[in-house]
Amino acid sequence: GVTRTFDFTISRGFLAPDGYQRPVLLVNGAFPGPLIEANWGDKIIVNVHNNITGPEEPTSMHWHGFLQQGMPWEDGAPGVTQCPISPRKSLKYEFVASLYGTAWYHAHYSAQYSAGVQGPIIVHGPTKSKYDIDIGPIILSDWYHLAYFDIIKGILLPGGNPRVFSDNNLINGKMNFDCSTVAAGDNTPCTNNAGLSKFKLQTGKKHRLRLINSGADGVQRFSIDGHTMTVIAEDLTPVEPYNTPVVTLGVGQRTDVLVTANAGGPKSAFWMRSNLTSCTSARQPYALAAVYYDQADTSKAPTSNAWNVPDPGNCANSDLSISKPLYPMAVPDPAFTQTMVIDFFRNASNIALWRLGGVSARVDLSSPSLFDVNQGNLSFPIEQNVLNFGSNSSVRIVVNNKSPTAHPMHLHGHNFYVLHEGDGDWDGSIVRPSNPMRRDVQQVRGGGHLVIQFDANPGVWPFHCHIAWHAAGGFLSVFVVEPDKVQQMHIPDTIQQTCRDWSAWTAVNV
Ligand code: C2O
Repeated sequence: GVTRTFDFTISRGFLAPDGYQRPVLLVNGAFPGPLIEANWGDKIIVNVHNNITGPEEPTSMHWHGFLQQGMPWEDGAPGVTQCPISPRKSLKYEFVASLYGTAWYHAHYSAQYSAGVQGPIIVHGPTKSKYDIDIGPIILSDWYHLAYFDIIKGILLPGGNPRVFSDNNLINGKMNFDCSTVAAGDNTPCTNNAGLSKFKLQTGKKHRLRLINSGADGVQRFSIDGHTMTVIAEDLTPVEPYNTPVVTLGVGQRTDVLVTANAGGPKSAFWMRSNLTSCTSARQPYALAAVYYDQADTSKAPTSNAWNVPDPGNCANSDLSISKPLYPMAVPDPAFTQTMVIDFFRNASNIALWRLGGVSARVDLSSPSLFDVNQGNLSFPIEQNVLNFGSNSSVRIVVNNKSPTAHPMHLHGHNFYVLHEGDGDWDGSIVRPSNPMRRDVQQVRGGGHLVIQFDANPGVWPFHCHIAWHAAGGFLSVFVVEPDKVQQMHIPDTIQQTCRDWSAWTAVNV
């Protein structure tokens, strides 16, 4: 493979993606951030410059979905694999496009990514599905008019409400907003009809669309009027093609679909829709974009009607039996099984927090657990919620969700097997043990269970709910995988430097 180098500068700005202006954090001045495009096996170098000032804020960048084999320090998780990148400092990330398909990058510091520090990644690989045109990323994100820091502050205040309502829903960073709904006394600049994203399809041709749910909280139901879609990949796993009118994506998930432009003549136009599900807290859940065939009048809005597919309302992914990896891998017997309960509670100060496996996590930003394990130190304070799986080569995780809310569960550094998911407790059965679905985020429904399993990739890896406010509220665990191998690793000085910079910055600023 070749080496592809990018420079990302993270900075503050003001943006009105839907017409309502708010403070944001941008990558190279843009939201969504620039596309990283590479071929399978390429080396990707990204120089991340933290230019967040006025006020200063730390950051970090996570390459969501990649395995970081033999280089867990490139994973970008503050307090786990590095110290935060201090203001006015840079970090050069260097990793391998170890899997192919559609991925994304995002800040992993607090809920920063929901304020704009995010962008798409495309890794081209072999594909058995033939198509004519790659439309590229279609980024679906719920959107909030409040600055992310104020949202977090509101939740983590004594008596704070953990339920956050999104104000809008965006496709590739655009949607209209009805400014007359802005609260009285709010003098924020607001423009009606800010404009929608537009997509061009070639009549009769087959297009690849790369859907990414990069939102903070909401589960998306994506569709295009008049067209069924053929799913060919979910997260970074190619699957046996199947057809569906609606694709459901939890936060962090991706789905690659093929769409043939054969629903009308060359002057046809259709609505693309993404709706936040009914179990998501949203004031305005509907996102729209316009799809035009090659001879359509792009100054006119489409007039097409939505598919009538009822929302199951449980925030679950589609049935696991439907998603079959194209390249089968049987799940081995687990060497170790860990059961973890999800629950919500209020602590002694009446602060709303989440627990995963009985602990609400607080990572130590100044002392990344990877560095500790690397130095042979395996004892962690309980509040860091570190689980050491030792030399076990395969680990099964049984998640029991005792909260009424659904959660997108994400494990770093692995493309895990999804063995079972559903209401209530697990009955012990596995969906297609000869070839279970594999992905990096999977929804667990409210009051339900999720059973995943992973083949050990030596490192120290966060396992967390991808809802930005939940992770910030302690909904995270840190998995130590094959610590004996981690002790043999050499953490590069670039990564070590983040901690020296961090201690200098915190000495002055905290
Ligand atoms: Cu996409 Cu730990 O995150």
